Amino acid sequence: MLTQPEAYYDADTFARIKAAADQQETPVLIVDTKTFGEQLDHLMACFPYANTYYAVKANPEVAVLEILRDRGCNFDIASRYELDKVLSLGVGGDRVSFGNTIKKIKDIRYAYEKGVRLFASDSEADLRNIAEAAPGSKVFVRILTEGSQTADWPLSRKFGCHVDMAIELCIMARDLGLKPYGISFHVGSQQRDIGAWDSAIAKVKWIFERLKEEENIEMKMVNLGGGFPANYISRTNPLETYAEEITRFLKEDFGDELPDVILEPGRSLAANAGILVSEVVLVSRKNRTGLDRWVYTDIGKFGGFVETMDEAIKYPLYVEKDGDTEEVIIAGPTCDSADILYEQYKYELPLSLEAGDRMYWFSTGAYTTTYSAIEFNGFPPLKTICI
Ligand SMILES: Cc1ncc(COP(=O)(O)O)c(C=O)c1O
Repeated sequence: MLTQPEAYYDADTFARIKAAADQQETPVLIVDTKTFGEQLDHLMACFPYANTYYAVKANPEVAVLEILRDRGCNFDIASRYELDKVLSLGVGGDRVSFGNTIKKIKDIRYAYEKGVRLFASDSEADLRNIAEAAPGSKVFVRILTEGSQTADWPLSRKFGCHVDMAIELCIMARDLGLKPYGISFHVGSQQRDIGAWDSAIAKVKWIFERLKEEENIEMKMVNLGGGFPANYISRTNPLETYAEEITRFLKEDFGDELPDVILEPGRSLAANAGILVSEVVLVSRKNRTGLDRWVYTDIGKFGGFVETMDEAIKYPLYVEKDGDTEEVIIAGPTCDSADILYEQYKYELPLSLEAGDRMYWFSTGAYTTTYSAIEFNGFPPLKTICI
């Protein structure tokens, strides 16, 4: 069945986004700030006890960051460049968390000079750098978690450490004059198994208890990371269900006296707010009787659809043509054979689809523009229009 806009957007929202896209050459990402604001309100209502640190990497458009600033949210940054962007909007360093565990000492120092006092870490070397360049700051230690099988975009292995090492790092943080403040984890982006938070929270509780009993260190914060769902083709539970379950897990482990709870949402806030509009460049078959129809469009892996790697993220796709449909292979416009978007997963598109027709890729507001190459094959980076 062909995707229809009403399955993803109300009529007004889609009309507003489409009207903006109609004025633009493709490819273009239209970000609807109203939808972003609604997503944010919804998340904050679902987790009324938590502090939101938006993962700037998901979509760093100024109009988006201003909404977060004005709602009193905080910011999770990955680099000094994201920090500069947030600070340029009048946000103080005290509303920023340096959430990347991989950072240069000179960037830690820079963040400290700008007022940042909250840092993530998962290794001794990084912790020593923080102690030297950001003395007295609060640190939270990121632990490894399970969940990579059920996350569409896993973040395992590269970040986090084992719980035993997390305990050692918290003790070391204290001994280095830092404030061991909390434990963080990220169960994987677009995590479809809510149970992934259960085991992670249980680990945090265990770490808190051991530190209290053995070292008299009072840990205060749990950072639940991102991983909350966007609306793609693969089904997820609604956000309310994530919130109910995660709140239950927290209460089971911590009782009614919850620690400070931090969320670092990116995808769940930004994705649904964006529709990427591309154009069909060419439709072809590889021989006269070829069964496979190739649809080449002017957005590809290097134009911003990096998350189609291994066909991990499957964006809902709408075209205005109808009639008989057939499975297609969808590929980008560059001279690189890695630039195939979907070959295993078969999108059905109308046989009448032809060059010049527009393709509307829903839920593409997160991790698209920031991934787009600046000049691959000469193509300019993906343009964003915020409405
Ligand atoms: C440290 C950190 N926090 C939060 C996020 C945002 O996660 P999500 O987009 O799944 O909400 C990411 C994503 O890469 C991350 O690396």
